[in-house]
Amino acid sequence: MRDFLTTSAYSLAELNGLIESALQFKHGKDRAQPLAGKSVALVFFNPSLRTRASMQIGIYDLGGNPVVLEPGSTSWTLEHRDGVVMDGDKTEHVAEFVRVLARYCSAIGVRTFAALKNWEEERTDPVLAAFARYSEVPIINLESAMHHPCQALADMMTIREKSGADRKRVVLTWAWHPKPLPMAVPNSFALAAAQMGHDLVIAHPEGYELDEDLMAGIQEQAAGAGGTVRVTNNIEGAFAGADVIYAKSWGSKLFYGNSEGDIEKRAQYRSQWMVDEQKMARTNNAIFMHCLPVRRNVIVTDEVIDSPASVVIDEAENRLHAQKAIMAKLLK
Ligand code: CP
Repeated sequence: MRDFLTTSAYSLAELNGLIESALQFKHGKDRAQPLAGKSVALVFFNPSLRTRASMQIGIYDLGGNPVVLEPGSTSWTLEHRDGVVMDGDKTEHVAEFVRVLARYCSAIGVRTFAALKNWEEERTDPVLAAFARYSEVPIINLESAMHHPCQALADMMTIREKSGADRKRVVLTWAWHPKPLPMAVPNSFALAAAQMGHDLVIAHPEGYELDEDLMAGIQEQAAGAGGTVRVTNNIEGAFAGADVIYAKSWGSKLFYGNSEGDIEKRAQYRSQWMVDEQKMARTNNAIFMHCLPVRRNVIVTDEVIDSPASVVIDEAENRLHAQKAIMAKLLK
């Protein structure tokens, strides 16, 4: 039994195999229903459009039955820490929740965002880890505190579709946003781009560095796959010659648990760190990517997101095909 928690647990050959499989689903060449007679639980602690809809539809397409649960709303509030005295507001422990669901379902998908309160705790992905620890069926990460591997696989599929399978100059750029956001998407995008052997540039203002251990893993993956990784604080320079621009905002580790401090620090970057036509003109006719949802004229201008360079809708569609490939691999 295997989980799908991060792409780093999968080899380059396996990731390429998943992308091939996703393309087969997309083009109607694979109509197999490996989930016939099976149910898959989808546990959402947080809101979602793309992940929830594409997982439900993907399970249906594969012949299965999705069971959607929202702890604290359509199911009981959940405690994930071991050994705690549950005399607070949590009704059920993950230990029972997961093992009961595993008796009904062939896999469990879980979305559990970072609370942006305690960096040292959240960087260990404690809720996702508790699900994986107790589950006897595969766990699929639908975005945790640190990773969004389904998004990253769809992103790599989109780059291959739009720009070809060879090595590309891929830029992950921080963007200004009115409040700090979790790091799962940039973490997983950078990791997967490194695994695919792209030349990766990560552009962000000083103070918005990604996790050090994660960066060490990204460097190692890039070296193994024949790619490169460069980190810069210069957004204008980063765009020069890029084949792919991937925009995302994230919070600073320096202000974790102190959103007011982060908001004050980032105010200076508002006009400079937005994707606009002037910056896109510096690229090698790059495609523009974003995981969505996106704030228009904050992260990216209308002119760029509505231009032919923008592939955000195809990228969102590819979530469906990529997740079908993941479920088919884990469950057939
Ligand atoms: N990109 C993404 O995961 O979208 P949702 O939050 O709408 O699922």
